[in-house]
Amino acid sequence: MARDSKRLGILTGGGDCPGLNAVIRAVTKSACRAGWEVRGILDGYAGLLEGRYCTLDNDAVSNILTLGGTILGTSNRADPFAVVVGGKKVDQSDVVMRQMEQWGLHCLVTIGGDGTQFIANRLSQKGVRVVGVPKTIDNDLEGTDVTFGHDTAVFNATEAIDKLHTTAQSHHRVMIVEVMGRYAGWLALSCGIAGGGDIILIPEIPFTIDAVTKAIQERRSQGKTFSIIVAAEGAKMEGGKMIVRQRVKDSPDPIRLGGIGNWLADQLRGHLTAEVRVTVLGHVLRGGVPTAFDRILASRFGARAFHCVQSGHFGKLVALRGKDIVHVPLSKAASKLKLVPLEHPLLKTALQVGTSFGK
Ligand code: F6P
Repeated sequence: MARDSKRLGILTGGGDCPGLNAVIRAVTKSACRAGWEVRGILDGYAGLLEGRYCTLDNDAVSNILTLGGTILGTSNRADPFAVVVGGKKVDQSDVVMRQMEQWGLHCLVTIGGDGTQFIANRLSQKGVRVVGVPKTIDNDLEGTDVTFGHDTAVFNATEAIDKLHTTAQSHHRVMIVEVMGRYAGWLALSCGIAGGGDIILIPEIPFTIDAVTKAIQERRSQGKTFSIIVAAEGAKMEGGKMIVRQRVKDSPDPIRLGGIGNWLADQLRGHLTAEVRVTVLGHVLRGGVPTAFDRILASRFGARAFHCVQSGHFGKLVALRGKDIVHVPLSKAASKLKLVPLEHPLLKTALQVGTSFGK
């Protein structure tokens, strides 16, 4: 890697999320002002392995602040430490080192969730100068209070729940809303509270069909003829397993969830007289324009990431702690997922307003 160069590479990895472009813009604008060149690596680590990039400058990042997705493209299959060649996984991290040398890159800014930062941390251990920026609508990254993208997903989900409320009420139905969130229930919990969900099912609190049925019947006995259930895709029954929709071979992210909503509906139909309907919000949650909160957070993260580059703080993840933007060791984000602690104040709030967790 080019020690004295003033050229950095930036990539977006894993699932897309609103605010990615705001980070790209903030890094590029700060870098250009300081006389640095920026290479946008296309499609995450895949572009780094295959030598694909575009040049980023003030013009290239003009008008992208409000744009969802990522102008660089992304991939959640490419892992330089496990590239599939002839059916076998091969460590091609040296290709990354050579590519960076050839492009004259001083360092890398990696914008992504747990998978992306896990790889970034391994590259850092190999001597690559890396700064990570935490992204994911799931908000499950350790090291930061909040990831950007989460607020937009909560907003999108809440809007959908608001709309489902009126139709649930009119038809006296039980509406199950399935939202993303594989191992952590932050999204379901937040949009469940904001949207007034009656039952919230999250991966951290395994539920029972009895308790869910009872909560619905209790509402009925109080004259409430409809109920809204918000279920994270990773929610599971006590003693049960998450519902896996697809297994993806040769991916750092080998399972895709989905199906808990329909599965739960089938279980409940045997116990309830009310009609049950299911809405799976899926990828809609991470599409569209970022909220003002996410635009601000992403811009602060991007500016801080370039500050880390300039001040030589590598092997770090930029993070939000309270109101401050800080940087923490990248290994922190790479080590484990941030789940909802069982004593978290949001759980208490939900319980106090009568929400059931199906337990
Ligand atoms: O990490 C965010 C997330 O939205 C998860 O909640 C979800 O399971 C996953 O991405 C799905 O992503 P994709 O369909 O792109 O693989």
